[in-house]
Amino acid sequence: MMDIEFVRSRFIKHFDGKTGNVYASPGRINLIGEHTDYNGGFVFPGAVDKGIMAEMRANGTEDTVMAYAIDLKDRLDFHLNDPAGPKASWARYIYGIALEMRKLGVPVKGFNIAFAGDVPLGAGMSSSAAMESCFACGLNDIFGENKVSQWDMVLAGQATEHNYCGVNCGIMDQFASVFGKAGCLMRLDCRSREFEYFPFKPDGYKLVLLNSKVKHELAGSPYNDRRNSCENVVKAIAKKHPEGKFETLRDCTWEQLEEVRAEVGEEDYTRAHFVLGEKDRVLAVCDALLEGDYETVGQKMYETHYGLSKEYEVSCEELDYLNDLAKENGVTGSRIMGGGFGGCTINLVRADLYNKFIADAKAKFAAKYGHEPEVIDVVIGDGSRKLC
Ligand code: GLA
Repeated sequence: MMDIEFVRSRFIKHFDGKTGNVYASPGRINLIGEHTDYNGGFVFPGAVDKGIMAEMRANGTEDTVMAYAIDLKDRLDFHLNDPAGPKASWARYIYGIALEMRKLGVPVKGFNIAFAGDVPLGAGMSSSAAMESCFACGLNDIFGENKVSQWDMVLAGQATEHNYCGVNCGIMDQFASVFGKAGCLMRLDCRSREFEYFPFKPDGYKLVLLNSKVKHELAGSPYNDRRNSCENVVKAIAKKHPEGKFETLRDCTWEQLEEVRAEVGEEDYTRAHFVLGEKDRVLAVCDALLEGDYETVGQKMYETHYGLSKEYEVSCEELDYLNDLAKENGVTGSRIMGGGFGGCTINLVRADLYNKFIADAKAKFAAKYGHEPEVIDVVIGDGSRKLC
């Protein structure tokens, strides 16, 4: 995590010299369960030790937000009562979450905010959810007497993506950022919203991310198309079975998917086929983890990569290559992580193979693409919190 003094010094310098409160929220990893959240399935994320830190203070105005994005060196003022809101994408997260918190009854007024991050942007580690939950945590504390529940903050973060940022995402990222706990992964049932903490200390293994540095950008992207495909399939199945209740692909069986194959077309069929498989894989991984069977966990990760690449079509050449390098090096499990279209692979690797794998992946990837992948060792950290 970053240094509080670093953020504080910028806050003091760019505003009126006074200090505020400091809040932090993490990015996330996800062991398995990709594109299952908006399909009512299971996900298996954990918060990381990297994220967003923000210093915030009410400034006594009715609705003026004075904001400074430290990493971008970008200073902007805007008004919460302006229906258009700011144009800069980073500022839309602040504007959006403030309006969503108002909808939850928090009387948000003008405030000053400076923030910075150490979670790589566009790497599929949910830097945007880290922003939303960090700002929500601050606004809840400063204006809302901390009355808004953690779940409502998760939903406010998701609504910010939907209503102000153009991404029709699920709830995994905001959930992980708010509820994360050091040393634990979380299995979340995205339909019932029940979850459990799973202490994750795989003896003799390491989790490492390799960031391809291909920027993943979900806004206005084919992410929303994937979601539409899933919804089309559910609608077709519901029409065929008026007696049943079909809200998401979670409610649909393999047989029902086959029944509508011709009607929905190959593209939607293949995407839904991935989701049904992924739903089963998450459950298989949970069982395997309980038995300490990391070989099965790893095998399922490879299957997920295959599905994300060939069925859901959210991979890219660089990520497929990182996956091949993992296989070549005997890595137990490897797959693209997060929404896709760039970003990282997550790798479960035996400790004794780690150094060789990293050295080989760096050298071969650099030879092919002109730059090394960024190596990010995973440390599972805590969720959103007030630091001071
Ligand atoms: C993005 C979204 C999440 C989830 C993942 C894919 O990170 O924000 O809601 O759908 O993609 O699993």
